[in-house]
Amino acid sequence: MTYLTHKDKIFIAGHKGLVGSAIMRNLESKGYTNIVTKARNELDLLDQHAVKDFYRREKPSVVFIAAAKVGGIYANSHFRAEFIYENLQIQNNLIWGAYEFDVHRLVFLGSSCIYPKEAPQPIRENCLLTSPLEYTNRPYAVAKIAGIELVSSLRAQFKRDFFAAMPTNLYGPHDNFHPKTSHVLPALLRRLVEAKENDEKRITVWGTGRPQREFLYSDDCADALVHMAEKISESDFDKILNTPPYWCSVNVGGGDEVSIRELAEMIAKEVEFSGKLEFDPSQPDGTMRKLMDSSLLVKWGWKPKITLEQGIRDTINWYKKNRNRYQVAAC
Ligand SMILES: NC(=O)c1ccc[n+]([C@@H]2O[C@H](COP(=O)([O-])OP(=O)(O)OC[C@H]3O[C@@H](n4cnc5c(N)ncnc54)[C@H](OP(=O)(O)O)[C@@H]3O)[C@@H](O)[C@H]2O)c1
Repeated sequence: MTYLTHKDKIFIAGHKGLVGSAIMRNLESKGYTNIVTKARNELDLLDQHAVKDFYRREKPSVVFIAAAKVGGIYANSHFRAEFIYENLQIQNNLIWGAYEFDVHRLVFLGSSCIYPKEAPQPIRENCLLTSPLEYTNRPYAVAKIAGIELVSSLRAQFKRDFFAAMPTNLYGPHDNFHPKTSHVLPALLRRLVEAKENDEKRITVWGTGRPQREFLYSDDCADALVHMAEKISESDFDKILNTPPYWCSVNVGGGDEVSIRELAEMIAKEVEFSGKLEFDPSQPDGTMRKLMDSSLLVKWGWKPKITLEQGIRDTINWYKKNRNRYQVAAC
């Protein structure tokens, strides 16, 4: 049985971003044509009235929320207020609007980085809020947890077919490659491409290089989200909701983890950088290990298709072709 069908009118919020653009590619590759998108200058998702007007006019039946304020350690620790305010505002407008205007299936995106700092590994869905959060990105995490509570509460109280997905660290085309606001993989990728081109003898990597991370290519993540939207029944999502601690959220990961040092070495090899990788332990490491338990998704018939090596290669190629968009002054 298919729950998302070609008759649906699908709104992808944040279609220009890493995840949103991958959802768009995935839906188009599966023949979906009734897709609505709005750039930020056409619809500011912080504006509640504009979002309501949009729902009233367009009446989408399915919504993917890939719009959010997102960033790496630097951005999260320097823009704490914007991270909580903007994420709460965007998700409240989109989720409550979807409830008011009868959207029948909604996918909200949480993230692996909103689980507790010392979460037992691999991280299961039910360990959300069981111990303290990582301070660096706590504002972002608190906002995202509120979003998961909102979709779960709308499901519980009003039987809305809304659920949350918790992707691991993602990367791919349309990622943010800004030197200060990007996540670790695109930041390292850009740094190493430039170091190779400038014939540098060494580069410095933030932290000890020891933290372990799981990475998933954005197209694999999008494929998992569309798989759940198309194939997983309301009653399967209700089963998760009705199991303690009563959140309707599903982990989305690939199962493989590498250290930051190994990641830097893989990218260096791919861009043919032969200089030295130096680690700066005075900079924060963030959470030491973050591996998701994605066994529920596996049980639901999904697994990733793109290896880390292949994904890094494709992302380097995409970055080299598109990098003029990222020639921004350092902030
Ligand atoms: N990246 C990861 O590693 C990762 C991992 C796990 C979960 N996620 C989740 O996936 C979701 C998407 O992340 P992403 O990495 O794809 O982020 P992204 O590349 O930064 O994309 C976010 C999108 O949201 C749009 N947006 C932000 N504020 C807006 C506003 N006020 N009005 C209209 N549009 C707005 C952005 O528009 P502009 O193009 O105009 O900026 C952009 O298109 C987030 O919920 C994030 O938590 C991401």
